[in-house]
Amino acid sequence: MKKNTNKSGITAVLVGAGARGKDAYGKWALKNKDKIRFVAVAEPIQERREIFANEWNIPIEYQFSTWVKLLNDKVGTIADACLVCTQDQMHTAPALKALELGYHVLLEKPMATSEENCKKLVQKSEEMNKQLRICHVARYTTLFSKIKEAIKDGLIGQIINIEHSENVAYWHFPHGYVRGTWRRASESSPVILAKTCHDLDLLYWLVESKSKFVHSFGELTHYKPENTPKGAPDRCIEGCPIAEDCPWYSPRLYLHGKPIIRIMKRSKKRRLRFFAELLLNHRTFLKYLSYLVKPLKKLLEWKRWPATVITEDLSYEGKMKALKEGPWGRCVYKCDNDVPDHQIVSIQFENGVTASMTMHGHSFLDGRWIRISGSKGTLMGKFTYGGEKLVYHDHRYVKDKVLWEMDITFEAHSDGDAGLMESFVSSLLNEDKQKEALTSARESLESHIMGFAAEKSRLEKIVVNMDDMR
Ligand SMILES: NC(=O)c1ccc[n+]([C@@H]2O[C@H](COP(=O)([O-])OP(=O)(O)OC[C@H]3O[C@@H](n4cnc5c(N)ncnc54)[C@H](O)[C@@H]3O)[C@@H](O)[C@H]2O)c1
Repeated sequence: MKKNTNKSGITAVLVGAGARGKDAYGKWALKNKDKIRFVAVAEPIQERREIFANEWNIPIEYQFSTWVKLLNDKVGTIADACLVCTQDQMHTAPALKALELGYHVLLEKPMATSEENCKKLVQKSEEMNKQLRICHVARYTTLFSKIKEAIKDGLIGQIINIEHSENVAYWHFPHGYVRGTWRRASESSPVILAKTCHDLDLLYWLVESKSKFVHSFGELTHYKPENTPKGAPDRCIEGCPIAEDCPWYSPRLYLHGKPIIRIMKRSKKRRLRFFAELLLNHRTFLKYLSYLVKPLKKLLEWKRWPATVITEDLSYEGKMKALKEGPWGRCVYKCDNDVPDHQIVSIQFENGVTASMTMHGHSFLDGRWIRISGSKGTLMGKFTYGGEKLVYHDHRYVKDKVLWEMDITFEAHSDGDAGLMESFVSSLLNEDKQKEALTSARESLESHIMGFAAEKSRLEKIVVNMDDMR
């Protein structure tokens, strides 16, 4: 097939039109059609494939049911870039083939689920002289860019220690790691990669040094059968006697989005807080009012993430069907999950910096906290669904200075997804921009190796000398 071109931007093919491919990067692309144009898609789920193909007017001969049919010598190279957004265990094969065909590749994290495959990918991209960009979106957010800038400007002097937490909310963790896609390490990847490869990557990026020793502990402590409350059925909607008291009652999240609406109550905007209050406590009143004021109906039905993950049919009936039949309707104590619900990692870097990272799935807030202590000052960052804030404390003065603040946002990863896409596209259009790219495949390899080392340490109860891993 002939290679497609785009006068003002790049052309791309998409492998995997799911939550990331279609709903995150695809959505950004729809708002930036001058920068990127999708010319083909590979996706086995017909409904997803058709939605994406319609959005981009992709002719039927460029719609494929699997990446194997799109990425092969017969079809050849039909665009500038290939976005690989399949699940964790299906990254290596399509990304290797796309590089071999001469595509620049944007690859979802984790780049691969074994060190060997991560290394193979980096080697292939270097051998083909093609970009392999891993979606470490956190680096592209305003908050973490500001932290990086402050460190580079010498604001806190020499970095001594970092404390970092990935607080996964009590409703978010079961969605992904108890009921959902990443609940079993052998079928996806260890949680330290699936959830916190961004965090390890941020630490490596901020410290600007390779790690020397890595140590980790972690367990699956709560979400397991022996903690099942008396009388709880297999699924929440099968008349669970403790539905009211259970924080994980699935209809509350997927039908009404209540835990997320509750976050709106943290907003600085009075109007948002008012609506949140109405939605949380006066649903019956709103329901009657919606017969007169139709747009209110939209507010009552939660049609955003994470509901978008459980079904394509976002009607009440569609979501109930998903809760009745799909994995997300299960009691959190009766899933076949095995990944830890809390894990800690200690790292000693070659330049003497020490860092600790905590991930846990029982948080009241959803998001990251970081404290970077330097020889002259301290940076404290909060990057949560409920808002962002970066504070600088100069050790000579008592007063704190707010360097960045943002109210709650419902954009995925704040502005990280957009920043990554902007950077990837512009680096293909302009070679100088490629030099400015925040992530290289080789750097991603280093932070992934930290993840593999942490998992090795957790399982084998040892301190890992990183020289043995490289
Ligand atoms: N960068 C981030 O912050 C971030 C956030 C969430 C998820 N992720 C990662 O993104 C990846 C995708 O996650 P998702 O939530 O979009 O998953 P998803 O399941 O929604 O999407 C994956 C898609 O790949 C499709 N697929 C399966 N087999 C295929 C094949 N042979 N050929 C082509 N397509 C095929 C599936 O049908 C599905 O639509 C995962 O590796 C995940 O870990 C990254």
